[in-house]
Order: sequence, then C-alpha cells, then structure tokens
Amino acid sequence: MSRNLLAGKRVLLGVTGSIAAYKSAFLIREFVKSGAEVQVVCTPAALDFVTPLTLSTLSKRPVLVELIKDSEHGVWNNHVELGLWADFVVIAPASANTLAKMRSGEANNLLLTTFLSARCPVYFAPAMDLDMHAHPANQDNIAELISRGQIEIPSESGELASGLVGTGRMAEPETIVDFIADDLKAKSPLHGRKVLITAGPTREPIDPVRYIGNRSSGKMGYAIAEAAVIAGADVVLVSGPVSIDPPAGVKLKQVETAEEMYQAAFPEFEDADIAILAAAVADFTPSKVYDEKVKKSDAGMDVELQKTKDILMSLGEVKKDQILVGFALESENELENAKGKLARKNCDLIVLNSIRNEGAGFGFDTNQVTFVEHNNTTPLELMSKREVASALIDYILKNFL
Ligand code: CTP
Repeated sequence: MSRNLLAGKRVLLGVTGSIAAYKSAFLIREFVKSGAEVQVVCTPAALDFVTPLTLSTLSKRPVLVELIKDSEHGVWNNHVELGLWADFVVIAPASANTLAKMRSGEANNLLLTTFLSARCPVYFAPAMDLDMHAHPANQDNIAELISRGQIEIPSESGELASGLVGTGRMAEPETIVDFIADDLKAKSPLHGRKVLITAGPTREPIDPVRYIGNRSSGKMGYAIAEAAVIAGADVVLVSGPVSIDPPAGVKLKQVETAEEMYQAAFPEFEDADIAILAAAVADFTPSKVYDEKVKKSDAGMDVELQKTKDILMSLGEVKKDQILVGFALESENELENAKGKLARKNCDLIVLNSIRNEGAGFGFDTNQVTFVEHNNTTPLELMSKREVASALIDYILKNFL
C-alpha cells in the first residue's frame, strides 16, 4: 500500500563491491515498478560483480562511477548536484568497506562524496559474510551511522556466498523497497490521519435511461485524493461517475446520486480527521423516478424537483474537532458568498473558484482558487489541479494541524 509514496521519487542507488550487487538489478526494477526514478552510482569495486550495462538499461540512466567524467576536458560528475537531486539515497549492497568509509568520512570515490553531500535520508543495506557482519568493528560502524541518522535496512539470516549460514545476507529487493516505503509513510505528515474526500458529479435519475447531471470531471477531487495519499493519509474517496482512474491506495466508494453520496460519506466522517468536499452535488433531484422510460409526447414534460441533502452542511452540523473544507463556485460577489458559505456550513476553509476566471473550473486541467477563512484570504495563481491539490494539503498542514 505505502509503495505508492514512491511514485515520482528520485532514488540515488549506491552499489558497492559485494556479491549481492547482482540483486541491485532487481532492486532497480522494484523501484521503477513503483514509479520512482533511479540514478545508480557504483563504487569501482561494484563493477567486479555487476556490469554497468545491466544497471543502466534497467534504470534508463547512465551508471556513474568515476569522480572525473572527462579528464581531458576537465569535466567531473557533480556529487553535490547528485546529493541534492535525490529524495533519498539507498546504498544496497553496503559492503563493510563502504560502511567503514561512510563512518570515517572518506571521500575517495563518487558514491562516498555523494553520500557526504546528501541532505536527504540515507538508507543502507549491509551485505557481507557472517563473521565480518558480527565483527565489533563493523557493528560499531553500523551503530555509529544509525546514531547519526542514517537508516539501516537490516541484513537477513541464511546461507551466505561463502557457504556459511548466518546473518549478513542483504535484505531481498522487495523487502528493501517495502522497508523504505513504510519508513517514508511513517514519517509523512498525514500518517495515521484519515481524510474523506467527495469528488465528481452526481446523477439524479428521471427514468431508467435519463438523468440530471453536471459537467464535473472529478479531476480536482481526484488530485486532492492523490495529494493526501502522497502526504501519507488514509484516504476515503466517495466519487460520482467519472472517467478517470482513482489514485492508487485510496478506498474508493462509487456512487451515483446525491442521496447515495450522502449515505456513503456521512458515516465515514465520524472518525475522519479532515473532510474535503469537492463534489459537484446536484442541488435538486426529481421527486419521482419513472420505472419505465418516459415516452415523448408533444405536450412536453414537467419534472418536479426536490432539494437534495446538503452533505457539507450535514457534516458541519455534527463536526467535532475535524477540519472541514468545502468548495464554492461563484460568479459574483465571490468573497462575500464564500464567507457566507463558510459560516452557514460550519466549515474551516472554503476553496473558492470563480467561474469568471479563464482556465478554471469544470473540465479544465487547471484551476485558479482562493483559500477563504473567516479572517484570512489567500489567492493562488492559475495552476494545474495537481498543484492546487498539493497547495491545499500544504495549507491544511500549516494552518490547521
Ligand atoms: N455540497 C454538498 N452537498 C450538496 C451541495 C453542495 O456537499 N447537496 C458541497 C459541495 O461539495 C461544495 C459546497 O457544498 O463543497 C458548495 O456547493 P455549492 O453548490 O456551491 O453551495 P450552495 O450552498 O449550494 O451555494 P449556492 O447557493 O451558491 O448554490
């Protein structure tokens, strides 16, 4: 589940001289499968065990080894840039030699200089024979690296390349990727928080083939769901009918009508920490739904409508200490109306769209919104819906949590 936190992450994979270096190929595949980008940096000793061609083919990037890229023209591999590029470094396999150098701060290869330059989390997966692993010098190095904030992915016990049996085998690639994904999740800002999101349109049936609907694409709500997942939340997405795929890792509840959306969303609110209602819920529904398709007649047709339940308002009525966020689509007196909605529906925040803004609202991939609180309004630029979504999650984190 938490593997979806790896999507889009930049991974600097350090490979050192150990028989387990062959497993780096599988490790790259696991990261790439999870949507991460991988840049491999090998120590010279790693190349005795695995070829750069294998690793570069799988990672789709040239493998870097040397500090100096082109000595004739004075071009180097910039370890500072590499260290800053990475969202995290993982050194797997980490040999006893490299661990010792990481501890002492030696800088005689590209991987070590990159390690010393990195500001991001550094994971390391030791791989060595059992006696080397158990040696007090090595154990001391590992303990010291951990005390400095580097994260050990512990070796496993089993048969080793030497034929001996014991602890020292590098963790399996799947285990390494799961370990990192779980660690990132545990450290992410919305870890352990439940976020309820409504998205998309509703459809209010007139008869078995006709309905009253609207043009909502669901893109805004789905982008918010994705941003909440990336921030580590447990996300429940209650969605009307849309043609886009739900983000990986959400609990999706598909509904059609406003009443179904209410029934699906309301019980989820009780133990939610945050609710963001981005759905374009129909305000009215036909009072009567015909069992058979209505035949056309020259006299025309009247459809009597009745009000639907206002889900946002209902959640506002039972709200305890949850953070409740609503959307408002306005065409005039935008701020005044948004503030009215904020108070009337007992929300903490309204995300205001004006239909007067070009490129904003239904169907577009972009949106231009203003965050409206009682005493605070924050207008944002026109940006992609994904950017609006992460700005919204950031805003909630900064101002409400
Ligand atoms: N909403 C809801 N249930 C409804 C109608 C709206 O949960 N039956 C939510 C929307 O998801 C959105 C917010 O309420 O977060 C604003 O919806 P809007 O229709 O603009 O609000 P209204 O109060 O109906 O305002 P207006 O009078 O402008 O139509």
